[in-house]
Amino acid sequence: MKSPAFAAQVIDWQRRHGRHGLPWQGTRDPYRVWLSEVMLQQTQVATVLGYYERFLQRFPDVRALAAAPQDDVLALWSGLGYYSRARNLHRCAQVVLAEHGGRFPATSQALAALPGIGRSTAAAIAAFCFGERVAILDGNVKRVLSRVLAFDGDLAEAAQERALWRHATDLLPERGIETYTQGLMDLGAELCLQRAPRCVDCPVRSTCRAAAQGQPSRYPVKTRKLKRGRREHVWLWLAWRDQVWLVQRPQAGVWAGLWSLPEFDDAAAFEVARAGWPGAGETLASFTHVLTHLDWTLHPQRWTLPARTARARVAAITAAWPGGRWFTRDAALGAGLPAPLRRLLLAT
Ligand code: ADE
Repeated sequence: MKSPAFAAQVIDWQRRHGRHGLPWQGTRDPYRVWLSEVMLQQTQVATVLGYYERFLQRFPDVRALAAAPQDDVLALWSGLGYYSRARNLHRCAQVVLAEHGGRFPATSQALAALPGIGRSTAAAIAAFCFGERVAILDGNVKRVLSRVLAFDGDLAEAAQERALWRHATDLLPERGIETYTQGLMDLGAELCLQRAPRCVDCPVRSTCRAAAQGQPSRYPVKTRKLKRGRREHVWLWLAWRDQVWLVQRPQAGVWAGLWSLPEFDDAAAFEVARAGWPGAGETLASFTHVLTHLDWTLHPQRWTLPARTARARVAAITAAWPGGRWFTRDAALGAGLPAPLRRLLLAT
């Protein structure tokens, strides 16, 4: 469908009712726009606001970010989730420095070749910073466009997704790509909601085929269901002289690269390990951390080694988790921690 009416409706609505004055708007600095787009993937504007300013204070430009230790980057990301974004962000800054002389490339195609920048994010940056006439298609925009077009292809299939990309490109306006792009995002976030779309307030209602059918929630179609897994572990809070022993998680998987507590497969494994330890334990409240494809129940156990325990004896115990180290509470809170561990340290 080619529909100048649709783009004009989106642009007109964005000007009057869309979001304005966000800290990453009103700039064409690719560093700032890129940072906001990566933070806004899977995360709401309200959450991003606090993180964005703090991040920019610490890393005002791509050079500062590229030069930082990964731990510092993860620490500022702590709580935003989806930490592969932070690791890619850091790598991307290093690639921009090493391969592009510290300047982001000025086309969506070149941007999409950088770490952590997918096709839609590349397009958003190119549209906002360079006025490139190019389509975005993130999760929200897939919902908007599949409804407007009554596109019922199964987006779990790559060919159907490609078809929707072509439609998205056909719908682009000749002028006003920045406002149009922001308008699609705003529509998806504020009106064209997944469960209860607010069609009565929608500026493209007259163009929307799903609304005409009276079935906006039928779209988008995506058949493949995520199979959710379950996992349980005992989480060891080992305490000695007001410090906690933390281990850095592997660079791949859940909470990759963050500092966390040692884990045991179950209570029996923990009982075997702590049988010869001096000191005393206490059982803290279990909780379930819900991840995209996993419910992870953690059973925290705090074990306090007596302050008088000799360093060599303590070292023999912690040798089970090489690469770990002792953190004071304040140092731990300043490190890149999984959000539930941060809460646990603050609450207990
Ligand atoms: N989500 C992704 N990018 C966004 C942006 N620029 N403004 C608001 N929400 C967004």
